[in-house]
Amino acid sequence: MKGVVFTELLAMVEETFGLDMVDDIIERSELPSGGVYTAVGTYDHQEAVSLVVSLSEISGMEVPALLKAFGKYLFGSLAKAYPTFLDGASDPLDFLEGVESYIHVEVRKLYPDAELPEFECSRPYSQSELHMVYRSGRHFEDLCEGLIEGSLEHFKSDAKVERSKLEDGRELFVISR
Ligand code: HEM
Repeated sequence: MKGVVFTELLAMVEETFGLDMVDDIIERSELPSGGVYTAVGTYDHQEAVSLVVSLSEISGMEVPALLKAFGKYLFGSLAKAYPTFLDGASDPLDFLEGVESYIHVEVRKLYPDAELPEFECSRPYSQSELHMVYRSGRHFEDLCEGLIEGSLEHFKSDAKVERSKLEDGRELFVISR
């Protein structure tokens, strides 16, 4: 997983819980990297899981809630770091549909080693209901929900997000307005 994800995770922890918490979770997680990340480096995504589990143990907050909160935060950081991906986007559902067909495609050009999820997008019932089926060996469903909610907030949309598990184990997100 790209270092930018780790540097943003630690930035969120510092902003929300303070710098001591950053030190505490790095120490507790016994990370192969030692907790030193550069934005362009690549690290085992398990390190992010370990950091969030440690944060959960110390803060008492649940892991899924922390991952979702981080997803929202991460969207803000990505939007700031890559403003061109938001240029011209005015509709939140069109934007979300473009994550698979445009944004992550461009991300892969920038970072050929990026570990990106796969989304199967469709609007089976109406134009105002987007279905996104998420598949990733990393199983960051909660992070994904936060990223979707962060996008909706960015577009000041009051669309709703519902989640369910498909029989094949993939997660279905239904975004409706
Ligand atoms: C400006 C918008 C976005 C940019 C620039 C962007 C870029 C990235 C980057 C750089 C990563 C890390 C890849 C790695 O660590 O190797 C990533 C991961 C991810 N992105 Fe995006 N992304 C954006 C928006 C979104 C949105 C809106 C969603 C949700 C629909 C999303 C879903 C994910 C998920 C779930 C991951 C974690 C990896 C996984 O689940 O396997 N992204 N993205």
